[in-house]
Amino acid sequence: MTTIVRGRFLDIQQPVTSPQDIAQHVRYIEDGVLITEQGKISWFGTWQDAQAHLPTDAKIDHYPDQLIVSGFIDTHIHFPQTEMVGAYGEQLLSWLETYTFPTEMQFKDKHYADKIAQFFIQELLKNGTTTALVFCTVHPESVDALFENAEQKQMRLIAGKVMMDRHAPEDLCDTPETSYQQSKNLIEKWHNKGRALYAITPRFAPTSTPEQLQKAQQLKQEYPSVYLHTHLSENKDEIAWVKSLFPEHNSYLDVYHHYQLTGQRAVFAHCVHLEDHEWDCMHQTNSAIAFCPTSNLFLGSGLFPLNKAWQKQVKVGLGTDIGAGTSFSQLQTLNEAYKVQQLQGNKLSAFESLYHATLGGAKALDLDDKLGNFNIGKEADFVVLDLQPTALQQLRQSRTQSIEDALFALFTMGDDRNVQATYIYGEKVYEKEA
Ligand code: GUN
Ligand code: ZN
Repeated sequence: MTTIVRGRFLDIQQPVTSPQDIAQHVRYIEDGVLITEQGKISWFGTWQDAQAHLPTDAKIDHYPDQLIVSGFIDTHIHFPQTEMVGAYGEQLLSWLETYTFPTEMQFKDKHYADKIAQFFIQELLKNGTTTALVFCTVHPESVDALFENAEQKQMRLIAGKVMMDRHAPEDLCDTPETSYQQSKNLIEKWHNKGRALYAITPRFAPTSTPEQLQKAQQLKQEYPSVYLHTHLSENKDEIAWVKSLFPEHNSYLDVYHHYQLTGQRAVFAHCVHLEDHEWDCMHQTNSAIAFCPTSNLFLGSGLFPLNKAWQKQVKVGLGTDIGAGTSFSQLQTLNEAYKVQQLQGNKLSAFESLYHATLGGAKALDLDDKLGNFNIGKEADFVVLDLQPTALQQLRQSRTQSIEDALFALFTMGDDRNVQATYIYGEKVYEKEA
């Protein structure tokens, strides 16, 4: 149950409240050692200092040329949409009708859900993603399929059954009562089982009646330690629709807030077009945002104002939002995040990017006491990155003068080809074929 890994390690030592603070908390050990026991980090430091802690016959996984970082955290992704990445020509509302709902109907079949869940978990690992907050479908079978597959790898996954009782095909709708009962059963079955955690998951305000949102509220009150996961202010037509459906509320976020669905462990995907008082509500309730750049660009939703989130002190994690997002790779997601910042006249530094993909994501998910860096006692989820899997990256990396520049080139050019190995709970669960 002991794993010893030697190589170049890079992490961010503690959560920060401004991007300017990140650089001073970067920890880079050129020749380091990480020791894990029973899935947790029991020792971390330099190769030299490690000598006193290593048994003489220790088996060591040595990665002399790679870079080892904390496992990537995806704070918003839909596993049933894996097969529909790259669906042509629509923006959010027509994209849902045209592509998403028909795809999600297939998940009432447990065998089908199992097949896609297995593929999905493998794809996460192949991309160095070790924790994710995941949308399933309205079918409880889809949640079982996902958690059963994650359990086999001991993954820390947060997921939930979609609650949706209107404005969707009949076969994809539940009712306030069935959504309550099915969610409750799933919470009892999965929440805190091994590393699994449950998220109450109303799809978004337009597909839930007030009665259903009230049931979501009841669940949150009965199970205060579960998560709340939904979408918010992604697209302008969506926002106008919410205003027409809930005229008594003064904003989109106010609908969720009214039903007490904001708060610690509440994660809202997108938040591209929040109004100022909504930002204040996000801050005051300690709610978190999943920033999904590849999705926001692909669906033409808009540019997420990351600087505003720092300014308003609202927690942000990074989301791939597969299948509106176009890649499982957090490296590719950071590549697009950088461009979203550029289009707003801002810079996204390599260290800030690393923060969002690891410790910042952990903080958004209220898991920064367990995940996000190599601090002793944390759960040992990490990824071994090859910085030069292609001729072009080899050339570019040969010209780098600093770890920061090497990291920036990785985040700009990298993808699953850069993931050499992925470790979950101290165990190697993925290794790239030679
Ligand atoms: N809003 C409501 N449902 C969805 C979904 O499946 N994907 C995205 N990107 N936005 C949504
Ligand atoms: Zn989404």
